[in-house]
Amino acid sequence: MTRLLFVASEAYPLIKTGGLADIAGSLPEVLRQQGVDVRLLLPAYRQLLDGIDQSRTVAELELAGISLRILATVLPGTGVETWLLDHPSFAERLGNPYHGPDGQPWPDNADRFMLLSRLAAAISTGEAGLDWRPDVLHCNDWHTGPAVALTHLQEQRPLTLFTVHSLAHMGLFDRGTFERLQLPGHFWQDSALEFYDQFSFIKGGLVYADYITTVSPTYAREICESPGGMGLEGLLQARRERLVGILNGIDHGVWNPAADPYLEHHYDAANLEGKALEKTALQRSLGLAELDDRPLLGIVGRLVEQKGLELILPALGDILAKPAQVVVLGTGERRYEEQLQAVARAHPDAMAVILAYDESLAHRIEASADIFLMPSLFEPCGLNQLYSLRYGTLPLVRAVGGLADTVVDATPQALADGTATGFVFGPPDSGEFMSALARAIALWRDQASWRRLQATAMAQDFSWQRSAARYLELYDSPR
Ligand code: ADP
Ligand code: GLC
Repeated sequence: MTRLLFVASEAYPLIKTGGLADIAGSLPEVLRQQGVDVRLLLPAYRQLLDGIDQSRTVAELELAGISLRILATVLPGTGVETWLLDHPSFAERLGNPYHGPDGQPWPDNADRFMLLSRLAAAISTGEAGLDWRPDVLHCNDWHTGPAVALTHLQEQRPLTLFTVHSLAHMGLFDRGTFERLQLPGHFWQDSALEFYDQFSFIKGGLVYADYITTVSPTYAREICESPGGMGLEGLLQARRERLVGILNGIDHGVWNPAADPYLEHHYDAANLEGKALEKTALQRSLGLAELDDRPLLGIVGRLVEQKGLELILPALGDILAKPAQVVVLGTGERRYEEQLQAVARAHPDAMAVILAYDESLAHRIEASADIFLMPSLFEPCGLNQLYSLRYGTLPLVRAVGGLADTVVDATPQALADGTATGFVFGPPDSGEFMSALARAIALWRDQASWRRLQATAMAQDFSWQRSAARYLELYDSPR
């Protein structure tokens, strides 16, 4: 039985800011069900500790002069044994895991996530005083990059895997931070953790891992080139044979319109009446006009440049004039929040903007909307378009990363073949976005065609089975 240590900075339902939490909250359980002896390692944030009923202390130790505890609990809704790194820099701070109320990163992030990395490495190399050691260390994103590098200092080490959920966050700090953290001096070179005179956490994973994975085949290709590689394309190109794109899966237990506890009305592809009822209920609760003669367009996500807000914002007036209604749920950059709110204030019966993190509303928007907008500039995988497909809410996406791998554009050919599941456009400009939207709305008006598209979309299977098997293959591969 493979012993796996899976390390991430967030996991649903304990702590979530984005898609990484969905993956860390579902993949380990799928692997466990396939016979893997898995431990999930997370930081014990205040919010996380407040949300769990029970935990027990499994170890107390000191790493690089810092005392910490490992607490054990079970990931709710799963059988995954979860280890929590208990240290005041996580436990004594309310709010977002990564940044303060001012939107700025917590000033000690390098120290906090280095501690997570040190602990993962200590468990992996048997230096944490536990009677359990992994055969495989699977790390995710920049917060855990140094864990891979440190693990590789030891001869007796597990196989290492590093998954890139996004290259946009590299965990960059200055040289003083590198020195203060007392890392081995030879890590300060271009072929190790240095990146243009800065200290890069993510390079720990990219340089040293036995295998690098990323969350879609197209993103795996994009990051080997400029601009997708964001300066790391040379390194990734050199490691191309060790880089694999494995599409994310979704949890059909959590995202299922036929049994979603957040919905009042349930539905499936055979009977979509509940979807129409959800739309009316959402319109009512958000103060939108209760009209069924215009499409409702949904947006759920972080309000940051990545998500294509520069394409959506200038087009909003034209979108509402179609006519269409728009609902936005998200938090992010202040400038985007303000611009969206200004349009909603001017059109209160046609547009609603909710600047919050709200799990329940995210599910209700997925169920209520007719079209889901996700014109991302780049998108390693994207989960919302997958949830949208399952909820019969046809996604309108840009042909990048995982969006290109999961949505089939409604071209005349694809419509004739019965393979279309949404709307895809290429060049990142508002005009292209609007013409894809015009196609979508025209098809929405043809209810018979729309039903066929919805049926195809809802029949897509993006559950974990296939992708989990690919991870299992890698866990068994030679170093
Ligand atoms: P990313 O990880 O880049 O943010 P994904 O599409 O992979 O994008 O995943 C985003 C996840 O976060 C989805 O599960 C989505 O529902 C959720 N999410 C994002 N913003 C919010 C919000 N404001 N309220 C509730 N859920 C949100
Ligand atoms: C990142 C990416 C997103 C991906 C998620 C989970 O946040 O931006 O595209 O779906 O990680 O892998």
